[in-house]
Amino acid sequence: MDLFEYQARDVFEKHGVPVLAGAVATTPEEARAAAETIGAKSGGVTVVKAQVKTGGRGKAGGVKVAKTADEAQQHAEAILGMDIKGHTVNTVMIAQGARIAEEYYFSILLDRANRSYLAMCSKEGGMDIEQLAVERPEALAKIEVNPNVGIDDAKAKEIVDAAGFDEADKAAIADVLKKLWVVYRDEDATLVEVNPLVKDEDGKILALDGKVTLDGNAEFRHPEHAALEDKAAADPLEAAAKEKGLNYVKLDGSVGIIGNGAGLVMSTLDVVAYAGEEFPGQPKPANFLDIGGGASAEVMANGLHIILGDEQVKSVFVNVFGGITACDAVANGIVGALNALGTEATKPLVVRLDGNNVEEGRRILAEANHPLVTIEETMDGAARKAAELASK
Ligand SMILES: Nc1ncnc2c1ncn2[C@@H]1O[C@H](COP(=O)(O)OP(=O)(O)OP(=O)(O)O)[C@@H](O)[C@H]1O
Ligand SMILES: [Mg+2]
Repeated sequence: MDLFEYQARDVFEKHGVPVLAGAVATTPEEARAAAETIGAKSGGVTVVKAQVKTGGRGKAGGVKVAKTADEAQQHAEAILGMDIKGHTVNTVMIAQGARIAEEYYFSILLDRANRSYLAMCSKEGGMDIEQLAVERPEALAKIEVNPNVGIDDAKAKEIVDAAGFDEADKAAIADVLKKLWVVYRDEDATLVEVNPLVKDEDGKILALDGKVTLDGNAEFRHPEHAALEDKAAADPLEAAAKEKGLNYVKLDGSVGIIGNGAGLVMSTLDVVAYAGEEFPGQPKPANFLDIGGGASAEVMANGLHIILGDEQVKSVFVNVFGGITACDAVANGIVGALNALGTEATKPLVVRLDGNNVEEGRRILAEANHPLVTIEETMDGAARKAAELASK
Protein backbone atom coordinates (compact mmCIF):
# COMPACT_ATOMS: atom_id res chain seq x y z
CA MET A 1 0.00 0.00 0.00
CA ASP A 2 1.32 3.42 -0.99
CA LEU A 3 0.79 6.20 1.53
CA PHE A 4 -0.15 9.79 0.86
CA GLU A 5 2.53 12.34 1.71
CA TYR A 6 0.63 13.51 4.81
CA GLN A 7 0.43 9.92 6.08
CA ALA A 8 4.15 9.43 5.44
CA ARG A 9 4.75 12.65 7.37
CA ASP A 10 2.82 11.29 10.35
CA VAL A 11 4.68 7.98 10.25
CA PHE A 12 8.01 9.83 10.08
CA GLU A 13 7.03 11.93 13.07
CA LYS A 14 6.07 8.84 15.06
CA HIS A 15 9.62 7.52 14.65
CA GLY A 16 11.36 10.78 15.43
CA VAL A 17 12.26 11.78 11.87
CA PRO A 18 12.32 15.61 11.82
CA VAL A 19 9.36 16.94 9.81
CA LEU A 20 7.51 20.24 9.66
CA ALA A 21 3.95 20.84 10.80
CA GLY A 22 1.28 19.86 8.31
CA ALA A 23 -2.50 19.57 8.18
CA VAL A 24 -4.86 18.30 5.52
CA ALA A 25 -7.76 20.16 3.95
CA THR A 26 -10.43 19.18 1.47
CA THR A 27 -11.90 22.64 0.87
CA PRO A 28 -10.30 26.06 0.29
CA GLU A 29 -11.87 27.29 3.55
CA GLU A 30 -10.28 24.48 5.52
CA ALA A 31 -7.00 25.25 3.80
CA ARG A 32 -7.24 28.85 4.91
CA ALA A 33 -7.94 27.89 8.53
CA ALA A 34 -5.03 25.43 8.50
CA ALA A 35 -2.72 28.05 6.97
CA GLU A 36 -3.58 30.48 9.75
CA THR A 37 -2.48 28.01 12.43
CA ILE A 38 0.46 26.44 10.65
CA GLY A 39 1.76 29.64 9.06
CA ALA A 40 2.11 31.17 12.52
CA LYS A 41 5.18 28.95 12.96
CA SER A 42 6.91 30.19 9.83
CA GLY A 43 6.22 33.90 9.44
CA GLY A 44 2.90 33.25 7.73
CA VAL A 45 4.50 31.16 4.95
CA THR A 46 2.95 27.79 4.10
CA VAL A 47 3.16 25.40 1.17
CA VAL A 48 -0.05 24.02 -0.32
CA LYS A 49 0.61 20.49 -1.57
CA ALA A 50 -1.61 18.23 -3.67
CA GLN A 51 -2.07 14.82 -2.02
CA VAL A 52 -1.93 12.28 -4.82
CA LYS A 53 -0.10 8.99 -4.99
CA THR A 54 2.18 9.91 -7.87
CA GLY A 55 5.44 11.81 -8.35
CA GLY A 56 6.06 15.06 -10.14
CA ARG A 57 3.37 16.99 -8.28
CA GLY A 58 5.53 20.09 -8.10
CA LYS A 59 6.08 20.20 -11.86
CA ALA A 60 2.37 19.72 -12.48
CA GLY A 61 1.58 22.83 -10.44
CA GLY A 62 0.45 20.86 -7.40
CA VAL A 63 2.93 22.40 -4.91
CA LYS A 64 2.59 26.15 -4.28
CA VAL A 65 4.13 28.50 -1.72
CA ALA A 66 1.69 30.87 0.03
CA LYS A 67 2.80 33.97 1.93
CA THR A 68 -0.57 34.51 3.58
CA ALA A 69 -3.61 32.49 4.58
CA ASP A 70 -5.52 34.25 1.78
CA GLU A 71 -2.99 33.03 -0.73
CA ALA A 72 -3.14 29.51 0.71
CA GLN A 73 -6.89 29.52 0.18
CA GLN A 74 -6.45 30.64 -3.44
CA HIS A 75 -3.82 27.96 -4.11
CA ALA A 76 -6.05 25.31 -2.54
CA GLU A 77 -8.90 26.47 -4.76
CA ALA A 78 -6.69 25.94 -7.83
CA ILE A 79 -5.12 22.66 -6.71
CA LEU A 80 -8.22 20.85 -5.38
CA GLY A 81 -9.88 19.07 -8.28
CA MET A 82 -6.72 19.22 -10.39
CA ASP A 83 -5.78 16.13 -12.39
CA ILE A 84 -2.19 15.01 -11.91
CA LYS A 85 -1.22 12.09 -14.15
CA GLY A 86 -4.72 10.66 -13.93
CA HIS A 87 -5.08 11.23 -10.17
CA THR A 88 -7.73 13.70 -9.04
CA VAL A 89 -6.66 15.89 -6.12
CA ASN A 90 -9.27 15.55 -3.35
CA THR A 91 -7.01 16.65 -0.50
CA VAL A 92 -4.23 19.15 -0.01
CA MET A 93 -1.69 19.33 2.78
CA ILE A 94 -0.88 22.72 4.22
CA ALA A 95 2.75 22.45 5.25
CA GLN A 96 4.82 24.82 7.29
CA GLY A 97 7.18 26.73 4.99
CA ALA A 98 10.85 25.80 5.22
CA ARG A 99 13.73 28.14 4.46
CA ILE A 100 15.71 25.72 2.36
CA ALA A 101 19.48 25.96 2.06
CA GLU A 102 20.11 22.63 0.30
CA GLU A 103 17.99 19.78 -1.09
CA TYR A 104 19.15 16.15 -0.87
CA TYR A 105 17.71 12.79 -1.88
CA PHE A 106 17.47 9.62 0.18
CA SER A 107 15.63 6.33 -0.20
CA ILE A 108 15.63 2.78 1.11
CA LEU A 109 13.99 0.10 -0.97
CA LEU A 110 13.60 -3.60 -1.40
CA ASP A 111 16.13 -4.69 -4.02
CA ARG A 112 14.54 -7.87 -5.36
CA ALA A 113 17.23 -8.59 -7.94
CA ASN A 114 19.91 -8.71 -5.24
CA ARG A 115 17.70 -10.20 -2.52
CA SER A 116 18.64 -7.32 -0.29
CA TYR A 117 17.82 -3.73 0.64
CA LEU A 118 19.30 -0.77 -1.15
CA ALA A 119 19.88 2.75 0.10
CA MET A 120 20.21 5.54 -2.46
CA CYS A 121 21.44 8.97 -1.53
CA SER A 122 22.41 12.16 -3.32
CA LYS A 123 23.63 15.57 -2.36
CA GLU A 124 21.61 16.88 -5.29
CA GLY A 125 17.99 16.16 -4.46
CA GLY A 126 14.79 17.93 -5.42
CA MET A 127 12.47 17.52 -8.31
CA ASP A 128 14.86 16.24 -10.99
CA ILE A 129 16.21 13.14 -9.28
CA GLU A 130 15.03 10.80 -12.05
CA GLN A 131 16.97 12.84 -14.62
CA LEU A 132 20.02 12.91 -12.37
CA ALA A 133 19.92 9.12 -12.02
CA VAL A 134 20.03 8.76 -15.80
CA GLU A 135 22.42 11.54 -16.77
CA ARG A 136 24.91 11.48 -13.89
CA PRO A 137 24.47 8.17 -12.08
CA GLU A 138 27.74 8.78 -10.22
CA ALA A 139 25.99 11.59 -8.29
CA LEU A 140 23.57 9.06 -6.81
CA ALA A 141 25.25 6.80 -4.25
CA LYS A 142 23.86 3.27 -4.09
CA ILE A 143 24.72 1.27 -1.00
CA GLU A 144 23.51 -2.21 -0.16
CA VAL A 145 21.90 -2.55 3.25
CA ASN A 146 21.98 -5.93 4.96
CA PRO A 147 18.42 -6.56 6.22
CA ASN A 148 19.75 -8.22 9.39
CA VAL A 149 21.86 -5.21 10.31
CA GLY A 150 20.04 -2.28 8.78
CA ILE A 151 21.41 1.25 8.88
CA ASP A 152 23.56 1.39 12.00
CA ASP A 153 26.27 3.98 12.72
CA ALA A 154 28.74 2.34 10.37
CA LYS A 155 26.26 2.00 7.50
CA ALA A 156 25.01 5.57 7.94
CA LYS A 157 28.61 6.79 7.76
CA GLU A 158 29.22 4.71 4.63
CA ILE A 159 26.17 6.31 2.98
CA VAL A 160 26.95 9.94 3.84
CA ASP A 161 30.59 9.42 2.77
CA ALA A 162 29.55 7.88 -0.54
CA ALA A 163 27.10 10.72 -1.21
CA GLY A 164 29.88 13.22 -0.55
CA PHE A 165 28.18 15.48 1.98
CA ASP A 166 30.18 18.29 3.60
CA GLU A 167 32.01 17.08 6.72
CA ALA A 168 30.07 19.56 8.86
CA ASP A 169 26.69 18.11 7.77
CA LYS A 170 27.47 14.40 7.88
CA ALA A 171 26.64 13.67 11.52
CA ALA A 172 23.22 15.36 11.42
CA ILE A 173 22.27 13.67 8.13
CA ALA A 174 23.49 10.25 9.33
CA ASP A 175 21.28 10.62 12.38
CA VAL A 176 18.18 11.17 10.22
CA LEU A 177 19.08 8.24 7.93
CA LYS A 178 19.17 5.93 10.95
CA LYS A 179 15.70 7.10 11.94
CA LEU A 180 14.40 6.56 8.41
CA TRP A 181 15.76 3.02 8.61
CA VAL A 182 13.69 2.49 11.77
CA VAL A 183 10.62 3.64 9.81
CA TYR A 184 11.45 1.15 7.06
CA ARG A 185 12.03 -1.74 9.47
CA ASP A 186 9.37 -1.15 12.12
CA GLU A 187 6.58 -0.32 9.68
CA ASP A 188 7.48 -3.21 7.34
CA ALA A 189 7.92 -0.89 4.38
CA THR A 190 9.24 -1.81 0.94
CA LEU A 191 10.01 1.82 0.12
CA VAL A 192 10.86 4.89 2.15
CA GLU A 193 11.85 7.82 -0.05
CA VAL A 194 12.54 11.38 1.03
CA ASN A 195 12.84 13.93 -1.77
CA PRO A 196 13.78 16.46 -0.77
CA LEU A 197 15.58 15.86 2.46
CA VAL A 198 16.68 19.42 3.21
CA LYS A 199 19.09 21.41 5.25
CA ASP A 200 17.40 24.63 6.27
CA GLU A 201 19.07 27.96 6.84
CA ASP A 202 19.62 27.09 10.51
CA GLY A 203 21.44 23.89 9.51
CA LYS A 204 18.57 21.64 10.58
CA ILE A 205 17.92 18.48 8.54
CA LEU A 206 14.23 17.97 7.64
CA ALA A 207 12.21 15.45 5.63
CA LEU A 208 10.06 17.71 3.41
CA ASP A 209 8.40 15.10 1.21
CA GLY A 210 7.94 11.41 1.90
CA LYS A 211 6.87 8.46 -0.19
CA VAL A 212 6.26 5.27 1.78
CA THR A 213 5.07 1.89 0.52
CA LEU A 214 3.98 -0.62 3.16
CA ASP A 215 4.31 -4.35 2.60
CA GLY A 216 0.80 -5.83 2.37
CA ASN A 217 2.20 -9.24 3.36
CA ALA A 218 3.02 -7.82 6.78
CA GLU A 219 -0.50 -6.49 7.35
CA PHE A 220 -1.15 -9.08 10.07
CA ARG A 221 1.55 -7.46 12.19
CA HIS A 222 0.09 -3.97 11.75
CA PRO A 223 -3.61 -3.69 12.51
CA GLU A 224 -3.02 0.08 12.72
CA HIS A 225 -2.19 0.20 8.99
CA ALA A 226 -5.79 -0.59 8.03
CA ALA A 227 -6.71 2.99 8.92
CA LEU A 228 -4.25 4.27 6.30
CA GLU A 229 -6.12 2.68 3.42
CA ASP A 230 -7.66 5.06 0.90
CA LYS A 231 -11.24 3.78 1.07
CA ALA A 232 -12.53 6.37 -1.40
CA ALA A 233 -10.20 5.09 -4.11
CA ALA A 234 -10.74 1.38 -3.48
CA ASP A 235 -12.81 -0.45 -6.06
CA PRO A 236 -16.04 -1.60 -4.32
CA LEU A 237 -15.78 -5.11 -5.81
CA GLU A 238 -12.16 -5.40 -4.71
CA ALA A 239 -13.12 -4.25 -1.23
CA ALA A 240 -15.93 -6.83 -1.05
CA ALA A 241 -13.57 -9.57 -2.28
CA LYS A 242 -10.96 -8.60 0.29
CA GLU A 243 -13.55 -8.92 3.03
CA LYS A 244 -14.22 -12.50 1.90
CA GLY A 245 -10.49 -13.25 1.79
CA LEU A 246 -10.44 -13.65 -2.01
CA ASN A 247 -7.51 -12.74 -4.25
CA TYR A 248 -9.42 -10.56 -6.68
CA VAL A 249 -8.23 -7.81 -9.01
CA LYS A 250 -10.74 -5.93 -11.15
CA LEU A 251 -9.81 -5.54 -14.81
CA ASP A 252 -11.55 -3.81 -17.69
CA GLY A 253 -12.95 -6.60 -19.88
CA SER A 254 -16.15 -8.65 -20.02
CA VAL A 255 -15.06 -12.27 -19.39
CA GLY A 256 -15.14 -13.09 -15.68
CA ILE A 257 -12.35 -15.46 -14.63
CA ILE A 258 -12.21 -17.90 -11.72
CA GLY A 259 -9.34 -20.33 -11.28
CA ASN A 260 -7.35 -22.10 -8.61
CA GLY A 261 -3.74 -21.07 -8.23
CA ALA A 262 -2.24 -17.74 -9.25
CA GLY A 263 -0.21 -19.28 -12.09
CA LEU A 264 -3.22 -20.95 -13.67
CA VAL A 265 -5.28 -17.79 -13.38
CA MET A 266 -2.52 -15.68 -14.94
CA SER A 267 -2.30 -18.01 -17.93
CA THR A 268 -6.09 -18.08 -18.16
CA LEU A 269 -6.06 -14.29 -18.56
CA ASP A 270 -3.57 -14.64 -21.42
CA VAL A 271 -5.51 -17.39 -23.15
CA VAL A 272 -8.81 -15.48 -22.89
CA ALA A 273 -7.26 -12.25 -24.18
CA TYR A 274 -5.80 -14.19 -27.11
CA ALA A 275 -9.05 -16.05 -27.88
CA GLY A 276 -10.99 -12.77 -27.63
CA GLU A 277 -9.15 -11.32 -30.62
CA GLU A 278 -11.20 -13.54 -32.95
CA PHE A 279 -14.55 -12.14 -31.84
CA PRO A 280 -16.38 -8.85 -32.39
CA GLY A 281 -15.52 -6.25 -29.74
CA GLN A 282 -12.43 -8.31 -28.78
CA PRO A 283 -13.68 -9.37 -25.32
CA LYS A 284 -11.00 -9.36 -22.63
CA PRO A 285 -10.72 -10.69 -19.06
CA ALA A 286 -12.87 -8.80 -16.53
CA ASN A 287 -10.84 -9.77 -13.49
CA PHE A 288 -8.23 -11.92 -11.85
CA LEU A 289 -9.67 -14.25 -9.20
CA ASP A 290 -7.68 -17.01 -7.57
CA ILE A 291 -9.81 -19.14 -5.26
CA GLY A 292 -6.77 -21.07 -4.06
CA GLY A 293 -6.58 -24.74 -3.22
CA GLY A 294 -9.88 -25.44 -1.48
CA ALA A 295 -12.52 -24.78 -4.14
CA SER A 296 -15.45 -25.41 -1.81
CA ALA A 297 -19.04 -24.50 -2.65
CA GLU A 298 -18.79 -21.57 -0.28
CA VAL A 299 -15.60 -20.17 -1.82
CA MET A 300 -16.99 -20.76 -5.30
CA ALA A 301 -20.25 -18.99 -4.36
CA ASN A 302 -18.32 -16.05 -2.89
CA GLY A 303 -16.22 -15.83 -6.05
CA LEU A 304 -19.20 -16.03 -8.39
CA HIS A 305 -21.11 -13.51 -6.30
CA ILE A 306 -18.28 -10.97 -6.72
CA ILE A 307 -17.87 -11.62 -10.46
CA LEU A 308 -21.60 -11.55 -11.23
CA GLY A 309 -21.77 -8.26 -9.33
CA ASP A 310 -19.53 -6.71 -12.01
CA GLU A 311 -21.87 -5.12 -14.55
CA GLN A 312 -19.24 -5.37 -17.28
CA VAL A 313 -19.17 -9.18 -17.06
CA LYS A 314 -21.01 -11.00 -19.86
CA SER A 315 -19.69 -14.54 -19.41
CA VAL A 316 -17.66 -16.40 -16.80
CA PHE A 317 -14.84 -18.87 -17.34
CA VAL A 318 -14.25 -21.27 -14.44
CA ASN A 319 -10.88 -22.93 -14.98
CA VAL A 320 -9.92 -25.44 -12.30
CA PHE A 321 -7.13 -27.97 -12.15
CA GLY A 322 -8.00 -30.57 -9.54
CA GLY A 323 -5.15 -31.38 -7.21
CA ILE A 324 -5.57 -31.91 -3.49
CA THR A 325 -9.10 -30.64 -3.96
CA ALA A 326 -10.29 -33.11 -6.59
CA CYS A 327 -12.53 -32.22 -9.56
CA ASP A 328 -15.62 -33.89 -8.07
CA ALA A 329 -15.39 -31.60 -5.02
CA VAL A 330 -14.99 -28.62 -7.34
CA ALA A 331 -17.95 -29.71 -9.46
CA ASN A 332 -20.06 -30.06 -6.33
CA GLY A 333 -18.81 -26.62 -5.34
CA ILE A 334 -20.00 -25.13 -8.64
CA VAL A 335 -23.40 -26.82 -8.46
CA GLY A 336 -23.78 -25.81 -4.81
CA ALA A 337 -22.77 -22.24 -5.61
CA LEU A 338 -25.29 -21.96 -8.45
CA ASN A 339 -28.03 -23.29 -6.17
CA ALA A 340 -27.03 -20.86 -3.44
CA LEU A 341 -27.00 -17.94 -5.87
CA GLY A 342 -30.39 -18.89 -7.37
CA THR A 343 -31.73 -16.09 -9.58
CA GLU A 344 -28.62 -14.01 -8.96
CA ALA A 345 -26.79 -16.29 -11.42
CA THR A 346 -27.74 -14.80 -14.76
CA LYS A 347 -24.65 -15.04 -16.94
CA PRO A 348 -23.36 -18.06 -18.88
CA LEU A 349 -20.60 -20.10 -17.24
CA VAL A 350 -18.01 -22.04 -19.16
CA VAL A 351 -16.36 -24.69 -17.01
CA ARG A 352 -13.13 -26.48 -17.75
CA LEU A 353 -12.05 -29.11 -15.25
CA ASP A 354 -8.96 -31.25 -15.43
CA GLY A 355 -6.70 -33.21 -13.12
CA ASN A 356 -7.55 -35.37 -10.14
CA ASN A 357 -10.86 -37.23 -10.55
CA VAL A 358 -11.85 -35.27 -13.65
CA GLU A 359 -14.30 -37.87 -15.03
CA GLU A 360 -16.40 -37.80 -11.87
CA GLY A 361 -16.31 -33.99 -11.83
CA ARG A 362 -17.58 -33.74 -15.40
CA ARG A 363 -20.25 -36.34 -14.66
CA ILE A 364 -21.55 -34.33 -11.70
CA LEU A 365 -21.78 -31.18 -13.83
CA ALA A 366 -23.43 -33.01 -16.74
CA GLU A 367 -25.97 -34.55 -14.39
CA ALA A 368 -26.81 -31.22 -12.77
CA ASN A 369 -27.49 -29.99 -16.31
CA HIS A 370 -27.67 -26.34 -15.24
CA PRO A 371 -28.97 -24.20 -18.13
CA LEU A 372 -26.20 -21.59 -17.71
CA VAL A 373 -23.29 -24.06 -17.66
CA THR A 374 -21.28 -25.22 -20.65
CA ILE A 375 -18.60 -27.86 -20.06
CA GLU A 376 -15.47 -27.69 -22.17
CA GLU A 377 -12.61 -30.19 -22.14
CA THR A 378 -9.67 -27.95 -23.00
CA MET A 379 -8.49 -24.61 -21.72
CA ASP A 380 -8.24 -23.16 -25.24
CA GLY A 381 -11.71 -24.41 -26.16
CA ALA A 382 -13.21 -23.00 -22.97
CA ALA A 383 -11.48 -19.65 -23.48
CA ARG A 384 -12.85 -19.42 -27.02
CA LYS A 385 -16.36 -20.34 -25.84
CA ALA A 386 -16.30 -17.79 -23.00
CA ALA A 387 -15.02 -15.08 -25.34
CA GLU A 388 -17.68 -15.94 -27.91
CA LEU A 389 -20.45 -15.74 -25.30
CA ALA A 390 -19.11 -12.39 -24.06
CA SER A 391 -19.07 -10.96 -27.58
CA LYS A 392 -22.78 -11.64 -28.15
N1 LIG B 1 7.33 22.70 3.33
C1 LIG B 1 8.03 23.24 2.33
N2 LIG B 1 8.64 24.45 2.47
C2 LIG B 1 9.33 25.00 1.45
N3 LIG B 1 9.49 24.43 0.26
C3 LIG B 1 8.91 23.23 0.04
C4 LIG B 1 8.16 22.57 1.06
N4 LIG B 1 7.71 21.41 0.55
C5 LIG B 1 8.19 21.35 -0.70
N5 LIG B 1 8.90 22.43 -1.04
C6 LIG B 1 9.58 22.69 -2.31
O1 LIG B 1 8.80 22.19 -3.38
C7 LIG B 1 9.52 21.21 -4.12
C8 LIG B 1 8.58 20.09 -4.52
O2 LIG B 1 7.99 19.53 -3.38
P1 LIG B 1 7.78 17.98 -3.21
O3 LIG B 1 9.06 17.27 -3.28
O4 LIG B 1 6.99 17.77 -2.00
O5 LIG B 1 6.92 17.68 -4.48
P2 LIG B 1 7.04 16.61 -5.61
O6 LIG B 1 6.71 17.31 -6.85
O7 LIG B 1 6.28 15.56 -5.03
O8 LIG B 1 8.38 15.96 -5.88
P3 LIG B 1 8.45 14.47 -6.47
O9 LIG B 1 8.99 14.63 -7.85
O10 LIG B 1 9.34 13.83 -5.48
O11 LIG B 1 7.12 13.86 -6.50
C9 LIG B 1 10.61 20.72 -3.16
O12 LIG B 1 11.72 20.23 -3.88
C10 LIG B 1 10.91 21.99 -2.37
O13 LIG B 1 11.83 22.79 -3.08
MG1 LIG C 1 9.27 15.24 -3.81
